[in-house]
Amino acid sequence: MCGIIGFSGETDCVPVLLGGLDTLSYRGYDSAGIAVAGVSGVHTVKAKGKLDALKEKLKTHPVSGSTGIGHTRWATHGAPSDENSHPHTSGTLTLVHNGIIENYAAIAEKLRALGYTFVSETDTEAAAHLIDSYYRENGDPAAAIYRAAQEMHGSYALGVLFHDRPNTLYAIRKGSPLIVAQTDSASLIASDIPAILPYTRSYVRLPEGILAVLDGAEISFSDENGSEVALKTETVDWDVEAAQRGGYAHFMLKEIHEEPEVLRATVAPYLKDGLPHFDVPGFDGGALAGVERIHIVACGTAMHAGLLARQWIEAEARVPVTVEIASEFRGREPILGEKDLVLFISQSGETADTLEALRLVKARGVRTAAIVNVVGSTVAREADDVIYTRAGPEIAVASTKAYIVQCATLRLLTICLALARGRMTEEDARRQCRILLEDVPESIAKTIALAAEIETIASRLKTKPHIFYIGRGADSVLGTEASLKLKEITYLHAEAYAAGELKHGTISLVEDGTPVIAILTEESLAEKTVSAIREVKSRGAFVIAAVSEGIAENREIPSDLLLTVPTAGREAWIAALPTMTAMQMIAYCTAAQMGLDVDRPRNLAKSVTVE
Ligand code: M6R
Repeated sequence: MCGIIGFSGETDCVPVLLGGLDTLSYRGYDSAGIAVAGVSGVHTVKAKGKLDALKEKLKTHPVSGSTGIGHTRWATHGAPSDENSHPHTSGTLTLVHNGIIENYAAIAEKLRALGYTFVSETDTEAAAHLIDSYYRENGDPAAAIYRAAQEMHGSYALGVLFHDRPNTLYAIRKGSPLIVAQTDSASLIASDIPAILPYTRSYVRLPEGILAVLDGAEISFSDENGSEVALKTETVDWDVEAAQRGGYAHFMLKEIHEEPEVLRATVAPYLKDGLPHFDVPGFDGGALAGVERIHIVACGTAMHAGLLARQWIEAEARVPVTVEIASEFRGREPILGEKDLVLFISQSGETADTLEALRLVKARGVRTAAIVNVVGSTVAREADDVIYTRAGPEIAVASTKAYIVQCATLRLLTICLALARGRMTEEDARRQCRILLEDVPESIAKTIALAAEIETIASRLKTKPHIFYIGRGADSVLGTEASLKLKEITYLHAEAYAAGELKHGTISLVEDGTPVIAILTEESLAEKTVSAIREVKSRGAFVIAAVSEGIAENREIPSDLLLTVPTAGREAWIAALPTMTAMQMIAYCTAAQMGLDVDRPRNLAKSVTVE
């Protein structure tokens, strides 16, 4: 996620901007830049790569001035490059942006017709030109910003520096976060609290649609009618590290809480007229209609997202899917047909096994596609077709929000495949997309709110050496990811079994008090899973059932603890994501109760770049 810092004061702002960008770097970034209003105008310096590259550039292109803006960019539109880095300038102004302007293509088309030329591939440049076009018309910064804001769809936090008002900063936001702070002699804007902590502990959360005007130590807030607005100042009592975690005890918990937001941020840009549209050649309707088989190749959690997608794609689009562990795929002779789609999934885009598997497929002359979170990562650069998820940086080693957005993207792919093959009506596809965009994030938020019940479950797990997850169909696959989550951060031994397979051997491990977590999201398979619950209970298991709302209403579940997972419909796919959020929370709460280093579990790395 991008980071914004802005300063208006009496002293040189460059150290403040660089310090702020450094503090915001935990948000993840691939390039950085600053723009400073000096005696000879506004000067911008920006560089692809880490902050050191920017600092190096500043040695040969020094700038100074008392008002300025800075930005760390997490690429979404356009690869990491100097040109795509912020700040962006258009005639009368320079600005920084965090968020995604969904209708930037339409805005750019209009502006090109007015004579604007674009030098970057970013959505942000459209915002800069749009505000510039209105400022040239009316000469009023507030009116120009408000008019542009009305036209922009999506999310934005903007910091704007008009060249003819070198002491003043303008800021507005929708969706993306922005705070405003004041000291005795200066004022600041920032994406997040840690960036202001060296100067003050008081700040204002800028409400959506309110314009902040910062001029030295003076700050005013106004609405779109120009009326002044009084805003409440809040005080922070966290230290810097806690502030980076947004006040959450761990990054993992923060990242679970971000799931509703990143799910919407991932799905929204891929909807056109309510239907999924990926805008890459390998994923258009014609290409998908001709796909004969799909091979999904990935590691760990990303591979588990593929397992869930297999359930969906085979059932609804009737395309055969194989899901392969990347390291295994590489070690054998996979049979790949000309009309096959080979899809790689990776949060980091740097996982060595996934990357080498991709290279192997490319060497065979077969087209490759990838679902990746990190823009400009190696997998993203080397795959023929890339679809980005928009989870933002995931810092905790245990993957949570990245899994949710991978699954959401795979759900969109399922709908695309089913449409392309005439197996789903447009009406149903639209209904499903709306549920994915609106209802599923809401159910996830309600699931997170079940924290107290989940803490009780965790308290029953933390002393147990072996824990089993059972379920059928998609529920068995969810169990596989749930058990990985629990294992990696609690060091407890957890295994997932297809509920019907237990009686073929593993049930011998169940004894008095063994926790068995049963997952039930599929109505048509629920009775059979209930039978498996009875089997383990009669052998002494302590059964925790995570059951989606509709299923819980219809039948008695013979469990010791019951967690009813909120869901917005009876179809199993709708329940899958909130159910996984519940599983992530169970793992998190168990590890936290055990006092473990949740974000940095032993022996593990966030990105596995070795084979
Ligand atoms: O970055 P990737 O998605 O390629 O990473 C793959 C796995 O290493 C990763 O999902 C791992 O399993 C997670 N830490 C599990 O939470």
